[in-house]
Amino acid sequence: MLLKRLLISLVLIGLVQLVYADQSINISSPNNNIQLGLLHRTNGDLVYQVFYKGKTTITPSGLGMKLKSPELSLVKFDLVGIDSSIADETWQPVWGEVSSIRNNYKQLVVKLSDRSGSGIQLQIIFRVFDEGIGFRYSFPQQAKLNHFIIADELTQFGVSGDHKAFWIPGDYDTNEYPYYTTNLSSVDATGGGAAQEIHAKTYFDKNAVQTPLMMKSVDGIYINIHEAGLINYPAMNLVLDKSSFSFNAHLVPDAVGNKAYLQTPSVTPWRTIIVSDKAAELLASKMILNLNEPSKVANAPSWVKPQKYVGVWWEMHVGKSSWDYSGGQVGSQQATRVPHGANTANVKRYIDFAAKNGFSSVLVEGWNTGWEDWFGQWKEDVFDFVTPYPDFDVKELQQYAAARGVKIIMHHETSGAVTNYERWMDTAYRFMKQFGYDAVKTGYVGRIIPRGEHHDGQWMTKHYERVAQKTAAYNIMVNMHESVRLTGLHRTYTNWLASEAARGNEFNAWSVGNPPDHETIVPFTRLMGGRWTIHQGYLRLK
Ligand code: NOJ
Ligand code: CA
Repeated sequence: MLLKRLLISLVLIGLVQLVYADQSINISSPNNNIQLGLLHRTNGDLVYQVFYKGKTTITPSGLGMKLKSPELSLVKFDLVGIDSSIADETWQPVWGEVSSIRNNYKQLVVKLSDRSGSGIQLQIIFRVFDEGIGFRYSFPQQAKLNHFIIADELTQFGVSGDHKAFWIPGDYDTNEYPYYTTNLSSVDATGGGAAQEIHAKTYFDKNAVQTPLMMKSVDGIYINIHEAGLINYPAMNLVLDKSSFSFNAHLVPDAVGNKAYLQTPSVTPWRTIIVSDKAAELLASKMILNLNEPSKVANAPSWVKPQKYVGVWWEMHVGKSSWDYSGGQVGSQQATRVPHGANTANVKRYIDFAAKNGFSSVLVEGWNTGWEDWFGQWKEDVFDFVTPYPDFDVKELQQYAAARGVKIIMHHETSGAVTNYERWMDTAYRFMKQFGYDAVKTGYVGRIIPRGEHHDGQWMTKHYERVAQKTAAYNIMVNMHESVRLTGLHRTYTNWLASEAARGNEFNAWSVGNPPDHETIVPFTRLMGGRWTIHQGYLRLK
């Protein structure tokens, strides 16, 4: 990356003077639309604020970390130094809606030392783009800190009033909610107020919402808060303090209540704030992608290809056929017996349809043993991902599909038993390659095993990354369901084509359904981090 030294008009007055006077540091984006202001107070606090075209977008907001081991709050700092630089580069994504992306920002690395006397060093890295800012914490390698546990991240995001917000309840395990549109003062994750249907499944705070959080400010500015590059860290929820309209970061805990286990040197994901007076410009922003690392997938352009597919899928969701061999149903349709959907003859009909109508592939769910007791059991050894039901002929179907230029998409429902999936991954991916599959849809329905872990906690974000890496090693594309919301990692893991991580159209099969505005809000919320498998459009073959 081309990083040039930039001279910013910072008047750093030397450390002795810093303890006697507040120190402010201001930096503008390349076109001056965004200004970032940092204030280092004489009491050691470091706060940041953001302006868009001169208007306050983020009010002075705190930064810091609470550690559990060593037990210590990193909230009062001495300012050790500041590095500044500018980047302006253009890169070519492997796939996507544009062929090249400009990455242009100014960067400040603020070097801090804990004022409480621990001697611990911390850095906060800010990048100021024309459409917003990103910042992350960095723990450099140092004698005083090696392994450590994060108890809480103390980042705040203050906004300037009772903005209109498009939100879903804060949750540790699911994003499958309809979006609620209320003023901030009416946010209610318990399902009261404006909430139409459900309350947080993993409830932890009435005022908690998830990111990407979209707001329209009282003065007409669109503000989106999210994160980029969620690796080796839990996802961030936001808890609103309604008295000040300030959000506090709330990380998803692990089974014993800790947030993250890190070792120096390490960095957190980027906290992102994207701003514009035109909503459409938020959609066009590539800031989240720009904050992610370049592709780590070898030869990706030759084998990573987004596809249009049909699936042996909807017919199960509407109860016309079943995932399991015995024809059982889940939920309200339990008593009904219906045919097993993934049988060879039925799959051939889908392959024929795909070949005739220009679909490159066919997703087949319910092809493998285990569906008899997959749901709500919290059991470890349900699926092995390599044993088909007797009426699903893997070899014959592969030949049938290949002869018609169609691919079959593999389905790996883990039913939340992630330890089991980790044991089977290599075997399952080898099986796929043996039978000509090069794309897999994974799923994490139900509670996670290891028991007590959450879908959006650090243990699972590491798992999703391992799946992306391992599938990449087998030249397999992946689409994850019930996974954590996306944070632009498809720049790095270009084979991770999409995730669900939102309330999809499947809810129109078996719930009260999705309100029409769900589809107009999702682009400004969940889709800010990456692609969605919504399963748009239904065709049920007669
Ligand atoms: C939930 C997924 O979102 C859906 O697409 C899938 O069919 C079922 N789980 C079964 O794995
Ligand atoms: Ca789902």
